[in-house]
Amino acid sequence: METDMTFEYAPAPESRAIVTIKPKYGHFIGGKFVPGSKHFPTINPATEEVLSQIALAGKADVDAAVKAARKAYTSTWSKMSGKERGKYLYRIARIMQERAREFAVLETLDNGKPIRESRDTDIPLAAAHFFYHAGWADKLEYAGLGTSPKPLGVAGQIIPWNFPLLMLAWKVAPALAAGNTVVLKPAESTPLTALLFAEVCQQAELPAGVVNIVTGDGSTGALIVNHPGIDKIAFTGSTEVGKIIARAVAPTKKSVTLELGGKAANIVFDDAPIDETVEGIVNGIFFNQGHVCCAGSRLLLQESVAEEVLHKLKNRMEKIRVGDPMDKNTDVGAINSKEQLAKIIELSAVGDAEGAERWSPACELPSKGFWFAPTIFTGVTQAHRIAREEIFGPVLSVLTFRTPQEAIEKANNTPFGLSAGIWSEKGSRTLWASQQLRAGVIWANTFNKFDPTSPFGGYKESGWGREGGRHGLAAYLKGVSHE
Ligand code: NAI
Ligand code: MG
Repeated sequence: METDMTFEYAPAPESRAIVTIKPKYGHFIGGKFVPGSKHFPTINPATEEVLSQIALAGKADVDAAVKAARKAYTSTWSKMSGKERGKYLYRIARIMQERAREFAVLETLDNGKPIRESRDTDIPLAAAHFFYHAGWADKLEYAGLGTSPKPLGVAGQIIPWNFPLLMLAWKVAPALAAGNTVVLKPAESTPLTALLFAEVCQQAELPAGVVNIVTGDGSTGALIVNHPGIDKIAFTGSTEVGKIIARAVAPTKKSVTLELGGKAANIVFDDAPIDETVEGIVNGIFFNQGHVCCAGSRLLLQESVAEEVLHKLKNRMEKIRVGDPMDKNTDVGAINSKEQLAKIIELSAVGDAEGAERWSPACELPSKGFWFAPTIFTGVTQAHRIAREEIFGPVLSVLTFRTPQEAIEKANNTPFGLSAGIWSEKGSRTLWASQQLRAGVIWANTFNKFDPTSPFGGYKESGWGREGGRHGLAAYLKGVSHE
């Protein structure tokens, strides 16, 4: 039965009292916080409040961080037994759990994502990555990656702003488990949880220099990529920067993994369970404001059910609560930055100009901060830019198909290949479709499910290599990174 009942909720704000944000931060190098020279602000995108001043690392800072990482690698970390390394990873994981509320509040303030998501998804998953990799540290010989696998050395790791602490965990946990030391750079708009993680490393008494964190923008990232003292680059971010990095490391001996963009097809067959499917579509594109590389941003509907799905989807979208990310009932928070909002507005305007039909539920957006209402475009064709380019926001492009074969052709007609979704009650159809789809991760009757044991990564312009699971370990061990 369909109901139009909407519940009114009183405000339920999470308290920010648990976090102490310093007015200014330096870099974390050799186990200590060292002052920076130049600084830039990080803001709360929901209010535009300046939260803190962040150091912009230049050549001297990156040099110092690489030197500290090399020293820790040579003198301590590469000599330590896997069992001992594992103890540190367990300790970090437990401290992250103990300080989970602090991490969640800080993540939401700095990033704009709903507290419900940082509390229930980002932070628990980040801790889970450390727990999972702690278990591998003394079992690398049994991972099927050779009898005596060796670490690469110093890893330079550059991460984006959409899942700040979680992307840190994806990078740091496998690197450390495999015996590498790291120099990590968080994104310029979301550095605060990485700096809190530096405190966790101190609290866990991790040997100095095993984890180094330098803050800054793309110029700092480029210094890391081009540093001769680094053995491996791990990057998550835009395909554009991924290509720059691939070119920069090509003439060097550096290993590289790239986790880039996506334009995932979420395919709904005529036998799909419609109500569950509608929930999955909403989760696929509106989770984390659509700032998700594997977001289900292209909805492919079989023609015979298209009308019913769209009717129910619009009905469901009317009930999405957009607003204060610190409110425990908020579903969609703030867009992460002014620049990202501009990009979403621009690509949506292209959708209008190309003749697609835009629809958003009525929703009041706060006057300060960066906001974009949940939006769908219907009447989209393969030729439209909004069907081909990553919008990286709460915007869904809807296409239709007649036969399963046509669905596969449309789904694969993209330069990306990160993820895909299949909605069908027939197991045989799901298995058939998943074998045809050129995507690294395929969800069936669900979407955006993550687990540290499951490898994640893409085909084509979505990147190189895998993160997570046994496959992810290979990227931090000698001789096995190019499977
Ligand atoms: P970006 O790729 O510029 O930033 C990601 C990280 O790379 C940041 O830490 C940044 O400081 C660093 N970086 C920038 N230029 C660099 C360089 N030349 N060398 C080394 N590091 C560098 O992404 P941006 O500009 O924030 O977002 C643009 C678009 O990228 C988004 O609209 C979205 O489509 C896509 N994106 C995809 C992500 C993913 O998870 N795959 C994450 C973030 C953005
Ligand atoms: Mg910020």
